[in-house]
Amino acid sequence: MQVTIRSGDPVAERCDAVVVPVAAHAALSGPAAAVDAAAGGALSAVAALGDFDGKAGSTRLVHAGAGLETRRVLLVGAGSGGDPAEDGRLTGGAAVGGLAGMTVRSAAVVLPEGADARFVQGLVEGLALASYRFDRYRTPPDEETAPVEAFTLLAAAESDARGLSAAVDRALILGDAACLARDLVNEPPNHLAPAALAGRAVQVADEHGLRSLVLGPAELTEQGFGALLGVSRGSAEEPRFIVLEHAGEDAGATPLVLVGKGITFDSGGLSIKTGKGMEDMKTDMAGAAAVLGAMQAIGRLGCRQRVIGLISATENMTGPRAQRPGDVVRSYGGVTIEVLNTDAEGRLVLSDALGYAATLKPAAVVDAATLTGAAIVALGHHAAALLGTDEPLLLAVESAAAAAGERVWRLPLWDVYDEPLKSKVADIKNIGDGGAGTIIGAAFLKRFASYPWAHLDIAGTAWDVKDVSYHPSRATGYGARLFTELAANWPSP
Ligand code: BES
Ligand code: MN
Ligand code: ZN
Repeated sequence: MQVTIRSGDPVAERCDAVVVPVAAHAALSGPAAAVDAAAGGALSAVAALGDFDGKAGSTRLVHAGAGLETRRVLLVGAGSGGDPAEDGRLTGGAAVGGLAGMTVRSAAVVLPEGADARFVQGLVEGLALASYRFDRYRTPPDEETAPVEAFTLLAAAESDARGLSAAVDRALILGDAACLARDLVNEPPNHLAPAALAGRAVQVADEHGLRSLVLGPAELTEQGFGALLGVSRGSAEEPRFIVLEHAGEDAGATPLVLVGKGITFDSGGLSIKTGKGMEDMKTDMAGAAAVLGAMQAIGRLGCRQRVIGLISATENMTGPRAQRPGDVVRSYGGVTIEVLNTDAEGRLVLSDALGYAATLKPAAVVDAATLTGAAIVALGHHAAALLGTDEPLLLAVESAAAAAGERVWRLPLWDVYDEPLKSKVADIKNIGDGGAGTIIGAAFLKRFASYPWAHLDIAGTAWDVKDVSYHPSRATGYGARLFTELAANWPSP
């Protein structure tokens, strides 16, 4: 899908459809009024009849007469002056949805005079996010549902188009980041084992000017990634630890470190899941996907800050060599862990990554992980749980989340939650007493975070978000845009 911006008259534009965003309860003005006039008042008639109210995300198709170059006009509700970026995303998403199922391959979007850059950036993000398809395993491609191939944003004036082009570029980079993350999450687990994930990471690094380092079993053993190796024991696939680095302006600055859980399939291990419970467990690398998507965007944006991405990648499988409940493993840095439930594997592989992060002398570390089903119980699919040890960092994550339109909601991390993790045989055990599942997962990770740290439990938000116009079903790419915003707004060296 292509998006370009230029000035132009929508009445004379040759394309398959003209999209007219209209704010709630607003009269048509500027170029939108010109389209209405050319269509013999067809647009204002629809509004006057009460068939269209401009609510964010609502759409109405109008077949205009011969007064326009194109016959199709799609009215799209552009919201009522809430957050302009989110109004934009919903508008873009609704535009894609409203044009679906028709033979529309090219569409022009009418921008109001003096359009807000935040709205335009959101709009283009929405177009990019909603146009996403994952159909590489379907034959033959379904022509009827083919999405619009090219959107042209028509600005009222040449100077508007010039002023908005940076917002369009940025939106496309953010959209690509989320769509890369979605691709990785949607990819079937037999097609994306840890080695393949590492291959994709190296490819992203090579294409976007990042340094990459990939550790395999021999290096992991030598350097003491005992928790990651423990989880990987039951799998025929080799584990990988992936490091991507964006140097930024000062390669010696203390880095922002992003960490992702990369379980390419979670069967639960010997503490095995039910059949239903593991159906979607190819998504258990969504944290890793968010980190990769963000690192791509950070490279493309040329962020000034030094940013390092870390991914612990393995399968969690059963078998004669699999880790047993009761095993004790030694995490990177030396903390010993009693593994009482092999299905609480995310915190194990993350403990090594957090331990490794300490060697990077980080300014701060933020991890994203599909860590607990309890996060879905608490917040559903609409917000990630946010926990951490450092108030300024938590505030920075919250503003990045707001900028990205990716919701976070805080849970407490008081020391009382450390109690259930006390082990009789090791320094810590990997499960608590059953209560407060999401907090206990974070309390476990806290033990390994010797620096300002925040944790995002994305078990709900990574997958299956319904009723958001710019999220097609299945993978959302959650976190890729949030992480990019966090890095882009991080204090410069
Ligand atoms: N990957 C799962 C969490 C998950 C569940 C993500 C459902 C998305 C949807 C994680 O590894 C897991 O199995 N967590 C256990 C932890 C428990 C054993 C302490 C859980 O949530 O049940
Ligand atoms: Mn698990
Ligand atoms: Zn898992």
